[in-house]
Amino acid sequence: MNILREIPELRAWTGRGVHPRVFVPTMGALHEGHLSLIDRARAEAGDQGEVIVSIFVNPTQFAPTEDLSTYPRAWEADCEKCRSRGFDAVFVPPVEVMYRPDASVRILEDRLSRGLCGASRPGHFGGVCTVVAKLFNLVQPDAAVFGEKDFQQLAIIRRMVRDLDFPVTILASPTIREPDGLAMSSRNAYLNPEERAGAVVLSQALGAARKSLDEGERDPHRLSQIVGAVLRESPLGKTDYLAVMHPGTLEPWIGAIHPAEGVLVALAVFFGKTRLIDNLHWTGPSGA
Ligand code: PAF
Repeated sequence: MNILREIPELRAWTGRGVHPRVFVPTMGALHEGHLSLIDRARAEAGDQGEVIVSIFVNPTQFAPTEDLSTYPRAWEADCEKCRSRGFDAVFVPPVEVMYRPDASVRILEDRLSRGLCGASRPGHFGGVCTVVAKLFNLVQPDAAVFGEKDFQQLAIIRRMVRDLDFPVTILASPTIREPDGLAMSSRNAYLNPEERAGAVVLSQALGAARKSLDEGERDPHRLSQIVGAVLRESPLGKTDYLAVMHPGTLEPWIGAIHPAEGVLVALAVFFGKTRLIDNLHWTGPSGA
């Protein structure tokens, strides 16, 4: 496995011209969720292609009040996991390689990022788009894999690729869960045992939403009440948002939900200072 830190090293590596090159951008602290993205990339790259992962805790997507300094960093363990998954290269740029001190250009997406995490974390998606655009320019992948757990991020990256004509295919990979249903996230490491036990409420609430939708509930307001009632069962959880959105526009569903268009039920819940997100993208009755 090649560990690439500087841009000339990366350019020399990509200059070998191996294709398809499939890219998985991460912020490290790799867990099974990330490893499933890497497996997806490996399958996509096939025997002829190559997989490159980046590990970069991107400062521009954290607000000054957020957890940039404490965000889990696990470089040795990450390298071990990368080796065990057998991919070709990892790009680990120092912050000064990615951002010049007087950098003054930034990408703005101003429709899909208005609500949900974009409303709770102003500036977050500008930072995500900017770093992903830079990484795409540096790595020049044919395809890149993103997790469906960050549904809004995935939608915004797809929009950026469409609107700015990046020649990159965006692949989505399903959320990986702990045995009790909690979506895997690097931030789960912050939870104390009581918070960890309570955090299962997010997937339980989404399970209740799925059941109601499967049984024919089409009223977004009633759906939201059903989900909210489950969330309130956890005394430690403080809901940041609970939203029933159109999955294409990421705007609230007004009127009856049309199964053909699907629905996104998205949650962000604080346990102490840790903010967890999860979602259900329902596209029709299960098993239909
Ligand atoms: O999803 C993440 O880990 C990050 O937002 C990403 C896409 C690596 C950009 O920093």
